[in-house]
Amino acid sequence: MLTNADLERMVDTSDEWITERTGIRERRIAADHETASTMGTEAARQALDAAGVSPDRLDLIITATVTGDMSFPSTACLMQAALGAGNAGAFDIGAGCTGFVYGLSVASQFIETGTYDHVLVVGTEKLSVITNWADRTTCVLFGDGAGAALLGPCDPDRGILGFELGAEGTGGDLLCVPGGGSLRPLTHEGLDAGEQYLRMNGREVFKFAARALSDSPARVMARLGISPSEVAMLIPHQANSRITEAAIKRLNVPSERVYSNVDRFGNTSAASIPIALSEAVGRGLIKDGDIVILTGFGAGLTYGTCAMKWVG
Ligand code: ACO
Repeated sequence: MLTNADLERMVDTSDEWITERTGIRERRIAADHETASTMGTEAARQALDAAGVSPDRLDLIITATVTGDMSFPSTACLMQAALGAGNAGAFDIGAGCTGFVYGLSVASQFIETGTYDHVLVVGTEKLSVITNWADRTTCVLFGDGAGAALLGPCDPDRGILGFELGAEGTGGDLLCVPGGGSLRPLTHEGLDAGEQYLRMNGREVFKFAARALSDSPARVMARLGISPSEVAMLIPHQANSRITEAAIKRLNVPSERVYSNVDRFGNTSAASIPIALSEAVGRGLIKDGDIVILTGFGAGLTYGTCAMKWVG
C-alpha cells in the first residue's frame, strides 16, 4: 500500500492537495513478481469460484489492459495458460480505462447470439511500471489491481440491457505512453527522456471525463427508459472523486447509489470498474434484479456505458 504520506516523501506534494483534488488517500502497488497476468488470473479464479464454473468450461477470455505483461503474446493468452482454460479463445482489448466496459460489450455479443456460454472479462493493470514516480502531476493518481466478471446466458429481459461505446481519437495525445511502440521504439535517449512513462494533460482529460461520465450514461438510460430513481447502483470509473461528483450531479442519481473506492485504490484504469463491482456485490449492495450502470472513460480517448439488470 502507498499512502499520501508516503508520496509526500517522494515528490513535492501534500496529503491535503491529493485528497482535495482527487479524493485519493492510498493505492495498492503490486510486488515485483506480480504482473497484469498474475493479478488478472487471481481475479479470474475468484470470479470462477464464485460462479462455480471450472476453467475448462470457459469459451473465451477477454482481458482489458494497457499494462500487459508483454507486447505479445496477449495477457489473455498468458491467463488462459495459467488458468488451464484450454478450451477458451483469448485476446486483449486496449481501450484504456474504458477497457472493461468495451470487454463486456464484446462478451455480450457472443452470449446473446448463443455462440458461447461462458465468457470471462478481466480488467487488470500494473500501472506502477508506467508511472513516473518523479512526476507529481501523475504519480499521485494511479494504483495497481485486477477484477473479473463471468458472463453467461440469462432471460432476455435481464443481464446486459444495453450499452454505448464511444471514442474521440483526436484527443489521443492527451493521455499516452509515447515510447515503446512502433512510432517511437525505445532508445537510450528515449528512456532518459522518460518516454516509457504515462503522460497526461490533466486539465483537458478532466473536462473530457466530466462530460463523458454524465452524457454517456444519460444517453444509455434515456434510450432504455431507465429513470435515475430506478438505478440501484452506478459504478463509474474510479479516477477522481471530483469528476464523479460533477457527473452525478448532472445525472441526478443519488450519491449513496454511486459506488466509490477511489480513496483506497486510486485509479487502476481498466481494473477500476470490476474491482468496484466486485466490492459492491461482496458487500451485498447489488441484489438480483437491480439495475446497475457501469460507465467509464480513458485513454484513446474512449468512453462507454453498460446498463444491466443484475442476475445473482
Ligand atoms: N501536489 C501538489 N501540487 C501539484 C500536484 C501534486 N501532486 N500536481 C500538480 N500540482 C500543482 C501544479 O503544478 C499546479 O501548480 P501551478 O499552479 O503552480 O502551476 C497546481 O497544482 C494546479 O495544477 P492543475 O493541473 O491545474 O490541478 P487540477 O486541479 O487540474 O488537478 C488533476 C490536477 C488532479 C490531475 C486533475 O486535472 C484531474 O484529475 N484530471 C483528470 C485526471 C484523470 O482522471 N486521469 C485519468 C483518466 S484516464 C485513466 O484513468 C488512465
